Amino acid sequence: MRRPFVAGNWKMNGTRDGAKRLAAGVAEGVSGLEGVDVAVCPPYVFIPEVAQVLEGTKVAVGAQDVAKEQQGAYTGEVSGGMLKEFACRYVIVGHSERREYYCEDDALVAEKFASAQRDGLLPILCVGEKLEDREAGRTEDVVRDQLEAVLDRNGISAFAEAVIAYEPVWAIGTGRTATPDQAQEVHRFIRDLLSAADAEVAAGVRILYGGSVKAANAAELFAMPDIDGGLIGGASLDVAEFTTICRSAAV
Ligand code: PGA
Repeated sequence: MRRPFVAGNWKMNGTRDGAKRLAAGVAEGVSGLEGVDVAVCPPYVFIPEVAQVLEGTKVAVGAQDVAKEQQGAYTGEVSGGMLKEFACRYVIVGHSERREYYCEDDALVAEKFASAQRDGLLPILCVGEKLEDREAGRTEDVVRDQLEAVLDRNGISAFAEAVIAYEPVWAIGTGRTATPDQAQEVHRFIRDLLSAADAEVAAGVRILYGGSVKAANAAELFAMPDIDGGLIGGASLDVAEFTTICRSAAV
């Protein structure tokens, strides 16, 4: 059975002290909680201290992005190997904010996915449609293209060591969550698509939902058969909200 997973995406928020306090609060809030994996993804510069705070706790550390290159003259980039040195286990790739504001296309996301795995990190691959795609009935086409770029580059076996996050762009930071049925439909579509390549890998891969998940709506989303947890933005900055969400995912 798939083990539920809840990851907090802190985005570009917080302060050095605040990040440490938040990490400590989350660790305390989920200590002893069984049946769910938990991670937080702080901004790069906070990762070393947050990793220290979280050492020996059940909360893992992830990053929000990674370079496609391993090292060299790439000003401003951070490699998977560097993240690994600071105890990162996960890295988000292809978040819609990076696709939208930093021109990341499907090909680049596929390279970053490969780069994460090459350095022993578990990529959390984000896919999801914009509002105009959904309104035009193109949700499945968009999600298929995003997934196939990664599949073509990395092969289906790569998904045995990866997590997928379905995040409809219109639901991110808007307070407008997909209904459990809307989300389940796309999660099912993603699993079926992977299943056509390898049923066992598809059955094992965790597919998180992201987009305005809160303590108040998490349980009904996580109750859906193909929703294996959440990628949480705004609500992950609040210890009580986030730990309640983790609790809702625990089986
Ligand atoms: P949100 O963000 O929970 O604030 O909508 C989710 C995400 O962008 O990962």
